[in-house]
Amino acid sequence: MKAQQGTGRNPSAYSRMARAIFMVQIALVSFSAQAGVTDQAMQMHKRLTQVEPTQAVLSQMVSLISQGNHIAAALVAIDHDKNDLANVSFSPRAKYFYDVTLRSMFNSWVTNANLPNTPLNDYYALLIGAVREGIPFKEVLYSDLIFVGQGTGVAAYNYSANNNYTDLENKVIQGTASLAAEVDFRQDVQENVITANGTINLDMVGNKTAGALTLRGFGNEFYTAGTNRRVAQTIYKEYLCSPLMTIKDNTISDHRVRRDVDRSPSGDSMQFISNCKGCHGGMDAQMGAFGSYQFTNNRINGNSTNYAGQNVGGGTHKYNQNGNVFPQGYVTVNDDWSNPWVNGQNSALGWDLSQPTSGFGAEPWGRMIAHTDAFATCMAKRAFTQMCAREPALGEEVYINNLTNTFVSQNYSMKGLLAEAASLPPCRGN
Ligand code: HEC
Repeated sequence: MKAQQGTGRNPSAYSRMARAIFMVQIALVSFSAQAGVTDQAMQMHKRLTQVEPTQAVLSQMVSLISQGNHIAAALVAIDHDKNDLANVSFSPRAKYFYDVTLRSMFNSWVTNANLPNTPLNDYYALLIGAVREGIPFKEVLYSDLIFVGQGTGVAAYNYSANNNYTDLENKVIQGTASLAAEVDFRQDVQENVITANGTINLDMVGNKTAGALTLRGFGNEFYTAGTNRRVAQTIYKEYLCSPLMTIKDNTISDHRVRRDVDRSPSGDSMQFISNCKGCHGGMDAQMGAFGSYQFTNNRINGNSTNYAGQNVGGGTHKYNQNGNVFPQGYVTVNDDWSNPWVNGQNSALGWDLSQPTSGFGAEPWGRMIAHTDAFATCMAKRAFTQMCAREPALGEEVYINNLTNTFVSQNYSMKGLLAEAASLPPCRGN
C-alpha cells in the first residue's frame, strides 16, 4: 500500500527510481561480465605461459574474448615474433609458453626414468620446435627434422654430445636466448646437421631418419643397453596414451617373441601364455623396426653387421642376447617388423590402413603410430590436461572429441590445439 500511496503522490518519482535501479542493474551486469572476461584472459594467459600478461596484452585479449573469440585471444598470449627477439610484435611474455610451459609439458615424454627437469636435448628441442613452427605434430615421429641451438656461446651440434643444447639452455635460463626465437633455435634436417659432424651410419634400409626416433636424445634414453623394447613402452604410453599394460593381448601369435623371453617362467608355461605373450607377441614383432640400433660411445650406432652368425645361436647382438633361455625363439636378422595389433582388441586404437603396418626400420613404424586415431585423441587429452591443470572428467568426452577433430582438421597443429584447450570453459573459467 505504501508504494501505491507513493505512486499516487508522485508517479514520476517512482519511475525515476525504477529507472535508476534498472541502470544500476545494467551497470552491475556489464561490470561482472567485464570482470568475467578479464578473469578468463588472466587464467588463459597463466595456463599458457605460467605468468601474468602485460597490461597491453591483457586488454587485447579482453577485447577479443568480449567478441567471443577466445582462441584468437589465446594465440595473442603465445604468438611470438620468432624472427626477432628484440622486436617483439606480440606478447613479450609469449616466450614463456616455449621456455616454461612446453618444457614442463614434454618433460615426462623425453625421459625413461621420469626425472623432473630433464636437460634440454635434441628430442626435447624437436617437440618444442615443432609446436613453434606449426609443423604437423604427427611428424615428430617420422620426418627428417632437427632443431639446433645457435648464436654466441653455443657449441656446434655434435652427434655424440649434448653441449649444443646445454649451452642453449644456459642462455635461456640467463634470459639471453629463448626457444621461441628462430635466431636462437633453428630448424634443419637431420641429414644436414648430423652428417656435417661426421658420418652417422643409421644402418637401416634407405638410411632413413625418423623424427625423434633417430635423434641422439631419444637414443640416450631408449636405446641404451636393454633390448630396445623400451621404445614401444614409451611411444605407446606418451603418444597413444596406452601403456602396454592396458593393451596386452594374449591372443596374438608368439612367433616373433625373441629367445631371451622364458616360455615357462618359474616352470609355469601358463604364465607365458596368459601374461608375457600379451606384450611380447605384439611388441617384439614391432620392435624389429629398431633392430639395427644401439646407443654406444654416446651416440646412436647402426650395427646390422653384427647380425652375421646370429642365425646359428650365440653372439652379442642385443636383440639376440640370452639366446639360451629359449633357443627356438625368434632370431633377429635385420630390421623388419610387423604389427599384429592392427587386428583384435587393439584395432580400437584406430590404425590407418593406408599407412604401413609392416616394413623395415623406424620411419614407417613411426608413421604408422602417428596416423592412428589414438594419437590424435591422446594429444587432445594431453592438451586438455595441461591447460585445465587436471585430467578430463567423466562427461567431458565432448571436449576431447572436439579438440581431436580440430587438431586433425587443422593439420595436427599443436599450437592451435593448446590454444583451443586453454579457451574451453572448464579450463578458462566463466
Ligand atoms: C606389460 C607388458 C609386458 C609384459 C606383460 C611382460 N613384458 Fe617383458 N618386457 C616389457 C618391456 C617394455 C621390456 C623392456 C624393458 C626395458 O628395457 O626397460 C621387457 C623386457 C623383457 C626382457 C628383456 C630384459 C633385458 O633387458 O634383458 C625379458 C627377458 C622379458 N621382458 C621377459 C618377460 C617375461 C618372461 C614376461 C612374463 C613373465 C614378461 N616379460 C612380461 C614388457 C612386458
